[in-house]
Formats: sequence, C-alpha cells, structure tokens
Amino acid sequence: MSDLIHLTIDGKAVTAAPGTLVINAAKQVGIEVPSFCYYDGLTLQAACRMCLVEVEKTPKLQVGCTLPVAEGMVVHTDSPQVHEARRGTLEFLLTNHPLDCPVCDKGGECELQDMTFRYGMGESRFLEQKQHVDEQQWSPVVFYDKPRCILCYRCVRICDEGMGVKALGVGNRGSVSIIEPNHFDHLECDECGMCIDICPVGALTSGTYRYKTRPWEMKHVGTICTHCADGCKTTLGVRNNEIIRGNNRDRSGINGEFLCIKGRYAADFVNSPERLQSPMIRRNGRLEPVSWSVALAAAASKLKDVKARNGQFAVIGSNHTSNEENYYLQKFARQVLGTNNIDHHRTGDIATLLDALSGKKEALATTADLYDCKAILVVSSDLSQQHPFLAFQIRANYRHHDAHVYTVTPGPVREQSIAVRSVISVPGSELADVESLRDQLGKEPELVILFGDAIKGDAIRELVAWGDSLGIPVKYVCLVDYSNSRGASDMGLSPDAGPGYRQVSTPGLAYDEILAATNLDVVWVVGANPLKHTSLAAQNAFVIVQDLFMTETASRADILFPAASAYEKHGTVTNVCGEVQRLKGGVQVMGAKPDLEIFGLLSKEMGVNLGMWSADKVLEEIRHNVHGYNIPLPILATGGAAQTAPVNGRVPVSSRPELIQSARDTLFTSGTLGRYCKKLNSTLEAPGALYSEPRP
Ligand code: SF4
Ligand code: SF4
Ligand code: SF4
Ligand code: FES
Repeated sequence: MSDLIHLTIDGKAVTAAPGTLVINAAKQVGIEVPSFCYYDGLTLQAACRMCLVEVEKTPKLQVGCTLPVAEGMVVHTDSPQVHEARRGTLEFLLTNHPLDCPVCDKGGECELQDMTFRYGMGESRFLEQKQHVDEQQWSPVVFYDKPRCILCYRCVRICDEGMGVKALGVGNRGSVSIIEPNHFDHLECDECGMCIDICPVGALTSGTYRYKTRPWEMKHVGTICTHCADGCKTTLGVRNNEIIRGNNRDRSGINGEFLCIKGRYAADFVNSPERLQSPMIRRNGRLEPVSWSVALAAAASKLKDVKARNGQFAVIGSNHTSNEENYYLQKFARQVLGTNNIDHHRTGDIATLLDALSGKKEALATTADLYDCKAILVVSSDLSQQHPFLAFQIRANYRHHDAHVYTVTPGPVREQSIAVRSVISVPGSELADVESLRDQLGKEPELVILFGDAIKGDAIRELVAWGDSLGIPVKYVCLVDYSNSRGASDMGLSPDAGPGYRQVSTPGLAYDEILAATNLDVVWVVGANPLKHTSLAAQNAFVIVQDLFMTETASRADILFPAASAYEKHGTVTNVCGEVQRLKGGVQVMGAKPDLEIFGLLSKEMGVNLGMWSADKVLEEIRHNVHGYNIPLPILATGGAAQTAPVNGRVPVSSRPELIQSARDTLFTSGTLGRYCKKLNSTLEAPGALYSEPRP
C-alpha cells in the first residue's frame, strides 16, 4: 500500500503505518527496544529514556517511544552508542534504588531486574549513601515503597486513563518526586490493583501477595473470575493449595490486563475457615456431619421415595455453577425427578432480548465491541460498579477511538465524565429518556446499547423496536449479575424452557412460585441462597442444599453437601455478552466436591444413568444439543472465548418481569461469596454504593 512508511531497523526492512512509533515498528520485526515508562494503550510519557535509539542523520539519540516512523528512516537499536546510553540510564535508575531483590515481591518478574541483567553495567560508580524512606500502606490492598520507584508514572496513568479514578498523583519535583495517593496518606479508590500490576518494579505491592511467595514457587492457573458476569480471565497464583493472587499480565483473554479487585484479590473465600467440608444430615433438629456415602445414600433414597409416590419436587439452581453443572442439573430434574419446577435467580431478562432479536446473532454485542463501537449507550446501570471490565472497555474506546458515550441512569455514574450526553432518569422514564437522545444517536454510524434490570419484558421489545427505527446497526448487551448468570439461562434452569430455550410441554413453577408453594415434598437448592430474604412456604418440604458456606438456605437443609467453588473445578461459563470460556481448577478444598460430581454420584446412587459426569463429556453433550454452543474446542482449550447465540428464532418463554432483579452488587460486594472475602470487606470503600459521584 502506498501510504505505508518504509524504514530500516538494524538492517531489517520494515513497513509500518504512518504514526507508528519506532518502538512498535521494531517490535513488528522482533526487535526489542527496552522501555519502562512506555506502556501500550496509555498516553506517552517519555520519562525514563530507556528506549533511546540511534537514527541516522540525526545529531543525537532519539526517544523510540515517542518518535513516529518516517519514510527512509534508518534506525539502529544495537549500536555502541545506544548500549552506552542504556547503561547510563540504568545506572541512574539504580542510584537510589535499594538492591533488595532477594526480598522484593517483584523479584523474578521485575522489569528493572531484567533490564539490568540484559543491558546494565554490572557495577555502579555511585558510592553515596542511598536515601531511605519508610514503606507506606495506602490501603489494605496497596503498599508503596518509595525508594524502589523509578518514576515511570505508569501507575498514575493507568489509574487516571484506564480506571477513570485519578487516585494517584506526583508530589515534589526532581529527584525527590514521589507518587502520592488521593486522600492525604491513603487511597479511596477502586482498589483494583491495576497500579500494582503495571508497576515495572516492586514499588507498589499488594496486601495479599507481599512477602508470601516468589513467582517461581507458584503454579499459575488461567481460569475465569468467579464474581461478576463480565468473565475476565484471571491467572491464579497458587502455592500450597492457596490462591495468593490473580493477575493477567500475559494479557490473554478478553480482558487483556484488566482485573478489578474481585478478580485480583477476592479469592480468599476459597480457604475461608467457614467453608463447609463435610456433608451434613439433620438429626433431631440439628445438622450433623456424616460421610459422603451416608449423605448420598440418604439423599438418593429420599428422592426415590418421593418419586415413587408421585411427590412434588422443585429445584433452584445457581448463577455461579458451570454450564456443565447447570445442564446436568436440569437434566436430572427433568429426566429423573420428572419436574419442570426449576429456576434460578434471574438478574437480567436475557430470554426476552433473545426473543426480541429473533435469532439476529449479529445484534448481540461482544466485549470487544465495547472497545470498537463508535457509540455506546448505557441504560440503567452503574457500569463501573457492577460491570468493571465493560466500563474499562468503554473508557479505553473513548480514549483510543473517541467513542461517543451516552448514559441514561438513575444517578451519577463514572461514565458521565466521558459522555457526550447524560440523562438522569426516574423509574419508568428510561425509554422516554432514551427517546430524547434519538436525534443524536440516529446520526451515529453504529451503536451498542447496554441495559440493566430496569429494562425487562415488554420494555426490551420496545427498546429493540426503537433501535431498529434508528436505521443504524445496533447491538445489545442485557446486563446480568454473576459469573454464569447467562449460562444458567442458556442451559435451561427455567420452568418453561430447557437448554437452548427449547419450550417444555408443561411449564413448571418459577422461582417465586417454588418459594410460595405449600405442597412441595423436596426442594433442592444448588449454589443459591433464596432463603436469605424469604422463607419456604412448604414448611414440611425436605430440603437438599449444595453450597460452599452455611448460608441462610444451607442452615434450613435436611441434607447439606459441601460444594467446590469455580476455582476448584473444570468446566465452562458464559459471560454477560454470551462469550463462553473455560474454567480451570487451581486448588482443592478438602471435603468439598464439584456440583457436577455430586449430581453424578446422586444419580448413580439412585441407579439411573444420566451419562458421564465429567465436565468434558457433558460439554460434548451441550455442544451437540444446545443451539449456538457447538464451539470449536481449540478456542476453549487455548483459553479463548467464543460468543454464542443460543437461539435462531423466537424464544418461547413467558415473560415474568417481576422475577428479574439484579442483586445490585458493587465493586466491593459479590453476593454470598463477597461475605466471605476478607480482602473485599477490609477496604474502606466496602460495601460501596451504586450511583455515587465519581471519586476525585
Ligand atoms: S488500586 Fe486501582 S483505583 Fe486504586 S490507585 Fe491503584 S489503579 Fe487507582
Ligand atoms: S510506583 Fe511503580 S508504576 Fe508508579 S511511578 Fe513508581 S515505578 Fe512507576
Ligand atoms: S470485572 Fe467482573 S469478571 Fe472481571 S475481575 Fe472484576 S468481578 Fe471479575
Ligand atoms: S520508554 Fe521511552 S522514555 Fe521511557
């Protein structure tokens, strides 16, 4: 193409688009230009001078991270002059840097350490005493060790540009410059740890990881965050069966490097002393620990007895269990127990959206669309609180592509600060408020609309009809709460639709009807806590519960099985945009079993054959039976995500808008799991508030 630029780097011919920086042009041909302050996706800083390169016909070394390529440019990154400059830069950076690598958290994955090994001098000419400043704790999550800081300002930029929080700034000038938190001596922020993750050295360290282990002593397990529905990939750092941290430094997965506090630090529920580790049976009014074989035999016998006398069953499933578990559970309910009385806590009306779109798969937005689309409308959601990754994508889109952002929300949200127009709505006025944006939105080339639980039932149909009337391509995201809320719906945890929203002949009881029914003989609750706010009307019902903790529902159980969390099992989950990704277990908790195994063992005990209960086998069945889930396995196996549209036409579900209700979790809460995450609860911001003014 004629508008490409041709240049030479270290003798290699390079072709690059105009505006490409020399550091990136070099990367294209496999040449590393070392850098500290440069960070892909953030504004240019040119603070460290580590990236100096020689450009022929220029009198002095040039800054590779800010220099755009030019036609005919001849660049040398490996010349004696460049090596000398790098040695000098490193020598200066180490002038006051404590050489405490053996005890520094970053040791083994420190960019300064790596650069010094590769390009450093081996010894310093500075003999002066190094300045010492005591380490500061800014929050339960963030610690700052000033002498280690090389003033690259990555932390300041990621917090400002990436997070939209602006919690970090620079104090003083010159060699006494420091990084400072936004509230005097402490942080009031998202506690996301992005600043820690992005720090090239050990100046910022985390309250969960510091001084606990070294990177090479951990097993690194790539899986999916088990909290909100955004489906971020997190790489668990596991040592001695304990999850010490989550991160995504390799930028694999849909979220690149992004993680919020929950994906990075909220895994301590796994090793909570309050985890259930033994099955229990109620005897004389009290739950008593028993062996797995005793509990399974008792549950199987109860299910068989009630089945034999045509009793009434009801099943409540989970927004956190895997697709395989949800699929198997509904199969168990429908084929073994013979009931369609099955539901889950519905946090968004995905079924009605799929119905309104009637199989138009291209109208379902992906998480990548939020980064690419020219215009985005957020309706009735405090996205930065409830969907941190989606909010991050939109901020990045605004920064990198000047995306036009619009909000219609019942209170202030962070997205307002980047919005072209914001409307504060009152309950019931959302669609009218959206209509008030018609003139502007109709002029956009394309649009993604994200909507929360205020838009449900017929309001979704009206919204989609309204989107059609704009005459531009419109995509939608129906916001749901938890890591597999979407999968629970797709896999058929519904009284009127089986997997892939296939209509059932006789609809069963819905969530509220199950709780209100008085004639149920057995209520089986898997990974949910419906009795937190209500009681079971069927007072004599036999209750079987599978859970991690002694919740309000678990304490009502007659038989209680200790279940494994998402970090302890394999399988797949489907995120808010319908992207399917693979779970990979990283730890094991003694006594707990994956829900899928519990279903399998129960069916075996009952003498029924529901097929193998390994996650891979059930996934095979799902791929075969559930529309849109025939996902290429290599995508999943390699940690990728594949979007699914589980229907290709109308969805035969009865809309029960009153059942759709978000739990309104914030950045610092996560349903039941959040109650057992010490790190979440220890932050100053916990439990946080929706629709609050953005922090300064
Ligand atoms: S933890 Fe997150 S929000 Fe807080 S200062 Fe660091 S980057 Fe900013
Ligand atoms: S704390 Fe880390 S990321 Fe921030 S300026 Fe210092 S070295 Fe850079
Ligand atoms: S945005 Fe959601 S999925 Fe991503 S790390 Fe946070 S809680 Fe987990
Ligand atoms: S990386 Fe270029 S000046 Fe820091």
